[in-house]
Amino acid sequence: MQLQLVTGDITGMICESVDAIVNAANSTLLGGAGVDGAIHRAGGGAILRECRELRRTTYPDGLPAGDAVATTAGRLGCRWVIHTVGPVHDPAIDRSATLRSCYLRSLAVADRVGAGAVAFPLISAGAYGWPKDDAVLQALTAVRAADTAVERVVLVLYDQATFTLAQEVLAAHPVG
Ligand code: APR
Repeated sequence: MQLQLVTGDITGMICESVDAIVNAANSTLLGGAGVDGAIHRAGGGAILRECRELRRTTYPDGLPAGDAVATTAGRLGCRWVIHTVGPVHDPAIDRSATLRSCYLRSLAVADRVGAGAVAFPLISAGAYGWPKDDAVLQALTAVRAADTAVERVVLVLYDQATFTLAQEVLAAHPVG
């Protein structure tokens, strides 16, 4: 598997080069701010309609933290949006396994739909308060541990500072 770090908006050009982008959603699946807001805005109403149907059928109580589910990407340039719910950071509770599960479950969903290239934002590193360096480390750890047919994973960092930080974390944790 190839792992790439890029800077930018996950709803931008990156969409054209991957099969699926991952949404940093919340359990309601009914949208929000950050990545969630950007994806619903750019993808259009079809995504929300599918999310509402998922809540009516499969997830009446909401998508649990650490789980993932795919919908259409609507007007976005990729084929699927894979929605995952990150854990809220709490220094008193170690929720890192749940954060890694977001990546592992999203890759399992990608395998199920046949997505060969997947772009992730930095799950939980925004509104959910996860320290960015550890958020990158958890992403890296999970992606490297994943038993998946996905050939290319792109980690999309929203700003240059986070991109540089991610490069440093990657350099400090070489493969193998
Ligand atoms: N493209 C790429 N990355 C983005 C974008 C974007 N358009 N917008 C924000 N980010 C970055 C943030 O800077 C952060 O590093 O994505 C990371 C995750 O931030 P959030 O979107 O706030 O996601 P999260 O921390 O998981 O919180 C999820 O926020 O928007 C609500 O509905 C969402 O309740 C959920 C919560």
